[in-house]
Amino acid sequence: MKNIVLIGFMGVGKGSIAREVLKHSDYIAIDTDDLIESMSNKKIKNIFKHEGEAYFRKLEKNISLWLENSVQNTLVSTGGGFYKVENLKKIGTIVFLDSPFDDIIKRIKKHPNSASKLKKRPLLNDLKKAKELYKLRRPEYLALADVVIDVTNKSAQECSKELLKKVNKNA
Ligand code: S3P
Repeated sequence: MKNIVLIGFMGVGKGSIAREVLKHSDYIAIDTDDLIESMSNKKIKNIFKHEGEAYFRKLEKNISLWLENSVQNTLVSTGGGFYKVENLKKIGTIVFLDSPFDDIIKRIKKHPNSASKLKKRPLLNDLKKAKELYKLRRPEYLALADVVIDVTNKSAQECSKELLKKVNKNA
């Protein structure tokens, strides 16, 4: 199986959709943010605070090279800015999870742990800036995607079904 790379804005539901895909497939799952936290033994918000965003992006780049050269049969959930790595298309089939900015924020806010979900993402601290970032990134996500899934008002289960169907057609 070719790897699947999930891309999309912060809070769009990459993690929950990945967990659902696992239940209905034989993919191994990894998450680039989790890898960075375990590699550095630090929370992402602290890496941003102490080492800075550029250092975080360097770790993402290192992970992208490892993914390209060493990983198979894997569903890779990525942080919202990971799509900028140069070799993204070489890692696997790119699946973009799409939703309007306001729906993404609504989705986060209705979660029982919404405060911590917002706090752990440094680039979501200022919603006005985050919306600008979203506007910049959305066309770039679309340009890279092999498969696009509109996740608005759909459950993780519905999205995962759609994902597996579209990815298999694409294979
Ligand atoms: C980021 C998204 C975050 C995390 C970091 C930077 C971004 O991941 O990688 O805070 O640049 O969009 P999620 O998309 O899982 O929130």
